[in-house]
Amino acid sequence: MENLSGKVAFITGGASGIGLGFARSLARRGVKLALADRDESGVQAAARALSGSGAEALAITCDVADAASVQHAADQTIDRFGKVHVVMNNAGVALSGSSGSIPLTDWRWIVDINLMGVVHGVEIFVPLIERHGEGGYIINTASMAGHWASSFMAPYTATKFAVVGYSECLAQELAPRGIGVSALCPGWVKTKIAESGRHLPSSVDGPQSDAAGPIHELINNGLSPDVVGEVVIQAMAEKRMHIFTHDDMRPVIDLRRDALQNDFGRAADAVREAEARLSETLSGTE
Ligand SMILES: NC(=O)c1ccc[n+]([C@@H]2O[C@H](COP(=O)([O-])OP(=O)(O)OC[C@H]3O[C@@H](n4cnc5c(N)ncnc54)[C@H](O)[C@@H]3O)[C@@H](O)[C@H]2O)c1
Repeated sequence: MENLSGKVAFITGGASGIGLGFARSLARRGVKLALADRDESGVQAAARALSGSGAEALAITCDVADAASVQHAADQTIDRFGKVHVVMNNAGVALSGSSGSIPLTDWRWIVDINLMGVVHGVEIFVPLIERHGEGGYIINTASMAGHWASSFMAPYTATKFAVVGYSECLAQELAPRGIGVSALCPGWVKTKIAESGRHLPSSVDGPQSDAAGPIHELINNGLSPDVVGEVVIQAMAEKRMHIFTHDDMRPVIDLRRDALQNDFGRAADAVREAEARLSETLSGTE
């Protein structure tokens, strides 16, 4: 999607960080904005600031974990702007912990936001984009954690791998229907993600890993969300499936590719050896 002026974008997690950075990039190109976030005062302040700089911005209080709440946000967006072209399913939280002692309520909390929040956005907005026939674009915010597994980050990593796989399916399905899809996979970005505990319901224990300290530091020294916003705009124009921002993380992609190829290289021999063992065992029992 190249000519953005006059189009409408819906962004979840639009009150802060990457969502707000992308909103600013779109505002500079004349895009009308619906910002959806569960942080009511934060999303209102973000929309006020964007309106103050000349954009048309609507603040919507929305919990992406709740399909009815996302549907209500979509209704409010259509009531105000008539249509939606760009959807960024971006709201997310971080949860770390040592596997074997992560409460299932914590797991469900992060899956409902990081994965089901994206699913809700896709299922609700795809028909709305198709209805106006002008085409559209969906950006699902995953992470480098959608390509790279690290210890004590299992819940976060599992949701982000899921978002990458889901987005790859969507890209194939939706291209012939006039909707581009990308998975945004940043490394460290200077946002409030390390304070995801601010969203915890009382039933959820939340982040517990010793890794939290170093991660805070990496995030505080991370890329500006405004730079990420500009990278996303360019990637949409180039219809890039995976949007990466951290070239210095290339070794983790290479390591994973090499490990996969190594394991895959054993597949044919492993099956041949298994068949030989089985036939030897079976001939011994005849
Ligand atoms: N910051 C990083 O280093 C980094 C790296 C890779 C990926 N990401 C991803 O970027 C996305 C945005 O995070 P961020 O880094 O900008 O953090 P952030 O905390 O600054 O922003 C996240 C926003 O999502 C909102 N939110 C959280 N739960 C919600 C819910 N249930 N419903 C609606 N809104 C909700 C928050 O209120 C907040 O405004 C997340 O999906 C995150 O996993 C972040």
